[in-house]
Amino acid sequence: MRWGRGGVAAVVVAVAVVGGGCTGDDGGRFRAGAGDVGDPYVPGAGNGGYDVDHYALTVRYDPAGKRLTGQATVTATATAGLSRFHLDLAGLTVDRVRVDGASAKHRRDGDELVVSPAHGLPAGRRFTVEVAYGGVPRPLPSGELGDGGFHATGDGAIALGQPESASTWFPANDHPSDKATYDIEVTVPDGLAALSNGVPKGQSSQDGWTTWRWSEGSPMASYLTTLVIGNYRVSTGTHAGKPLVTAVAAGLPADGPAATALARTGEVADFLAERFGPYPFDAYGGIAVADERIRYALETQTRPVYGPGFFADGRPNTEVVAHELAHQWFGDSVSLARWSDIWLNEGFATYAEWLWREHDGGRSVAQSFAERYMVTDWTKPSVDPGRAAMFGDAVYQRGALAVHALRRAVGDETFFRILRGWLAERRDGTATTADFVAYAERVAGRPLRPLFDAWLVGPERPAR
Ligand code: ARG
Ligand code: ZN
Repeated sequence: MRWGRGGVAAVVVAVAVVGGGCTGDDGGRFRAGAGDVGDPYVPGAGNGGYDVDHYALTVRYDPAGKRLTGQATVTATATAGLSRFHLDLAGLTVDRVRVDGASAKHRRDGDELVVSPAHGLPAGRRFTVEVAYGGVPRPLPSGELGDGGFHATGDGAIALGQPESASTWFPANDHPSDKATYDIEVTVPDGLAALSNGVPKGQSSQDGWTTWRWSEGSPMASYLTTLVIGNYRVSTGTHAGKPLVTAVAAGLPADGPAATALARTGEVADFLAERFGPYPFDAYGGIAVADERIRYALETQTRPVYGPGFFADGRPNTEVVAHELAHQWFGDSVSLARWSDIWLNEGFATYAEWLWREHDGGRSVAQSFAERYMVTDWTKPSVDPGRAAMFGDAVYQRGALAVHALRRAVGDETFFRILRGWLAERRDGTATTADFVAYAERVAGRPLRPLFDAWLVGPERPAR
């Protein structure tokens, strides 16, 4: 199948780099791990030669001086014999690196931290890297997509961003193809909240500082991490037997549209679970920020972040909640192996908005489909749309049209069986467009490539 514009050969090469992950050195058992996974949408992001299992992050942030100090313990498995390896770290100063408890040589190369352990790491070896670091974090400039990463705010900070953000506040293998579990401890001045992903593990105070602890036990892509510090109204409860933590910036009205929409988080998640299968994580939540620089919402794992623009018209916008919660299944639980397949996240999340809208008394799915069908620019592909168009209509809206075209072709029963089966089979993993098409064909028992080709990448309007 042609998934658009000659990207196939490049994709094959990229996969080979991830697998091999090494560039020659040493001549023997140990080689230098690559400083890039070869994803053309994010040059320099990710690294080769190892796979991270767990990040244990301990950070302290002082809003007065905008300084962060951190200690990261990264547990990884070598996938090749390594003489040295890279972590992504943008800005910040590294004070010390240890590998398996022993001092390691390190240097910076732009936004890379290059670590040379005292001894080579054989393929298959599990190892830990401890990095002590600090400085004034800065976001990564990403042009028209908005800056990703750590933003200092008046009362604290907001770290989030897609396709990259993690490397602005901790050393990471910063690509969704390497998911890992996380323990995150954040220390902030007493009185401020420090929110992050996963299950809340309590707070403790000492000498004017409070430490907030969070734990995400399901594999998480690094761009799905978030850190939100400041004056927030935090509500901690449970939903369906799991912790539910929502937070609304103190600058937003206590019973305003953001608070009202976030209060429906559990209800929306349950609605989606009926269609997609069980909610995939151990905690629920959401964070509404007031900072105008956050011009989007993001599906940060278990706890999406919503920019103020979604509630600016005074309406409790639950469509965006449905979108971000749908990503918990599509994008977070089943993640992208490479960014050119981003329609797999956004097409399904947009489709979930259509489903929720119909359920919540708005336009029917059939109407959403018919309206979109009329205004779509079929010359723009959903698959491999190009970096500059990764958040464009071809990804979100044309992607959703393709999802509904599948539903029309195979019928409701098979369609939801495909979705649920796919999510169960790929849970906690990563996948590509070809994987999804192959899975849908397997369940439907009929060829579907022509359908996906027409709806996702063909240059002409498919017959409906
Ligand atoms: N994945 C997010 C969503 O659709 C969108 C993030 C947009 N990012 C950006 N830099 N504009 O919910
Ligand atoms: Zn989305």
